[in-house]
Amino acid sequence: MIVTTDLLFEHAYGNYAVGAYNINNAEQIMGLFRGNIDSKAPFIVQLSKGARSYTDKRLLEAMIRAADEIFPEAIFAVHLDHGDEQACYDCIDSGFYSSVMIDASAEEFEENIAITKRVVEAAHAKGIVVEAELGKLGGVEEHVSVAEADAKLTDPKEVEEFVTRTGCDSLACAIGTSHGAYKFTGSQGLHFNVIEDIAKLLPGFPMVMHGSSSVPQDEVKRINAAGGQMGGAKGVDEAEISKASKMGVTKVNIDTDGRLVWCRVHREHLLENPENFDLRGPGKVFMAEYADYIAHKSEVLGSAGQLDSVREFIKNKVV
Ligand code: G3H
Ligand code: 13P
Ligand code: ZN
Repeated sequence: MIVTTDLLFEHAYGNYAVGAYNINNAEQIMGLFRGNIDSKAPFIVQLSKGARSYTDKRLLEAMIRAADEIFPEAIFAVHLDHGDEQACYDCIDSGFYSSVMIDASAEEFEENIAITKRVVEAAHAKGIVVEAELGKLGGVEEHVSVAEADAKLTDPKEVEEFVTRTGCDSLACAIGTSHGAYKFTGSQGLHFNVIEDIAKLLPGFPMVMHGSSSVPQDEVKRINAAGGQMGGAKGVDEAEISKASKMGVTKVNIDTDGRLVWCRVHREHLLENPENFDLRGPGKVFMAEYADYIAHKSEVLGSAGQLDSVREFIKNKVV
């Protein structure tokens, strides 16, 4: 069942986080749904601009509709990840998406507000909720000064004004993470003080953590052992993700970890089966292994086991 993202957030806030996973193809969709059903977790399927143009957005959307039929017990939202203004309007008009992200974080504060506000008005008119972004995502290296670090992270003092003026429904906050497989060089981690300050200023307002892959070191080792070159890859500590999930970080974005599972499975499979040229062999292994990864992540986020409770919550809200 496709539901609105704000209902998932309302149920989760302060207790657990909803996993938001990027998908590009059928195998990822099957693994994602299977893993969330196995762990009884609500979740968010998210499509980036790149994913929507990889094959064809209509194909991806049709596969998500089909997965909804194949897994009738699933409860999930469909989200546009890192949209520009045009992509947001396209998704809002399509009637298929539960929420969109307008990413105008590269703009100056006033311009970010103006763009986000336009998208919020168009989205709310159709009952769709909006995630915006404030701050510059990026790892904060150990050698940088406090002033330099603060310039990169989301400024809690700006958040209240940004949210009030734009009317956005959730906010991607820069709290020390970055996208991809190389997030940290030393022992850096999440900036919990930023999360705490925002939660105090805006209690109940959902924060979104981008760049949340944990880059499991076992995956990296296996990829390298099977011919990969991923020296120094490092992600977010899972204990820190669990902690943040109880502090108002309500949506946790994961893409890279899924790519690592894909890479490891295919590298190992082809190395161990040099005679094989059939995509279904590694494809089947990937679907099963990705499902296991997702089920594990539900435990880390605290979303595991929430499915019946969220179903009841939504039923009571909608009646
Ligand atoms: O944050 C970006 C996501 O990992 C999506 O990546 O734009 O390559 O699809 P992509
Ligand atoms: P990762 O690269 O850490 O998986 O982050 C994905 C993300 O933030 C998608 O928006
Ligand atoms: Zn992101």
